[in-house]
Amino acid sequence: MDLQQIVDDTWNALADERGSGTPAGYIPALAQVDPTKFGIAIATRDGSVFCAGDADEQFSIQSVSKVFALAMALDREGAALWEAVGREPSGNPFNSIVQLEREKGKPRNPFINSGAIVTTDRFIGDRGPDEAVADLLSRLHNMARDTRITIDEDVARSESETGARNRSLAYFMADFGRLLNPVEDVLSVYFRQCGIAMSCRQLAEASLFLAFDGTDPVTGLTMCSTERARRINALMLLCGHYDNSGEFAFDVGFPGKSGVGGGILASVPGRATLAVWSPGLNRAGTSLLGARALAQIADRTGWSVF
Ligand code: DON
Repeated sequence: MDLQQIVDDTWNALADERGSGTPAGYIPALAQVDPTKFGIAIATRDGSVFCAGDADEQFSIQSVSKVFALAMALDREGAALWEAVGREPSGNPFNSIVQLEREKGKPRNPFINSGAIVTTDRFIGDRGPDEAVADLLSRLHNMARDTRITIDEDVARSESETGARNRSLAYFMADFGRLLNPVEDVLSVYFRQCGIAMSCRQLAEASLFLAFDGTDPVTGLTMCSTERARRINALMLLCGHYDNSGEFAFDVGFPGKSGVGGGILASVPGRATLAVWSPGLNRAGTSLLGARALAQIADRTGWSVF
């Protein structure tokens, strides 16, 4: 199978539709990104990366970071994490608060914002917020073998300044005794992890552990156990796109995680990781063109997990 040809064909087939969808406007710094950007990368076991378009330009990974936060929280907390956050789809938008009161402040899953805030709290653990952020960045540097992965401080600040909804979620959960660290410490890490800037190539390379049983086949670094990698993939499939997860599984058939920066990370267990970027989103905050690109690649490769 010629993956470079597939990536090129997919990019060319969709190039005229660049700019479709609606870029996230609620984080002012994201609204300034050129909406016509479009990148695709596929990373495979032997270290090859097949790229097209703007695959080497860094963008704000936003909620894609929740996958790394989950892997690190599981590493620190083990199965006890599941006492703090559930494993069910929420059927609600990513920033919804409605279920939290009925469910005593326990978020449905680690990928909605409330769940990710709890996950972040647990991966901070008993460290300071800056130490936790440095740990996350250094793992990404090592996995992607690229120290240019950084935090876009403008995005993180913009998000903090306009973060009333995330503050509400966090304080609401704190009232139920769900957070171990001071709320503003947790949010400072959450906003910075969402502000991580990575390219499609870096994202696909850094997440190979998802497709290969928890261990990056290129660097040999273990991010998590085989069982945990399997479960992170399961949660990505069921919850990775919030109330759009069913559509994504139906159309694409890969475990995936979207971010409002327009990135989508997908994993195909045993085969590859894929990252796409196009800032225009659908109503659930998933990149419109990105999801279409992944659907085309799934068709061409036959890699759907179903
Ligand atoms: O907390 C937020 O609202 C953003 N930092 C992340 C949301 C996000 O990426 C949702 N995903 N599609």
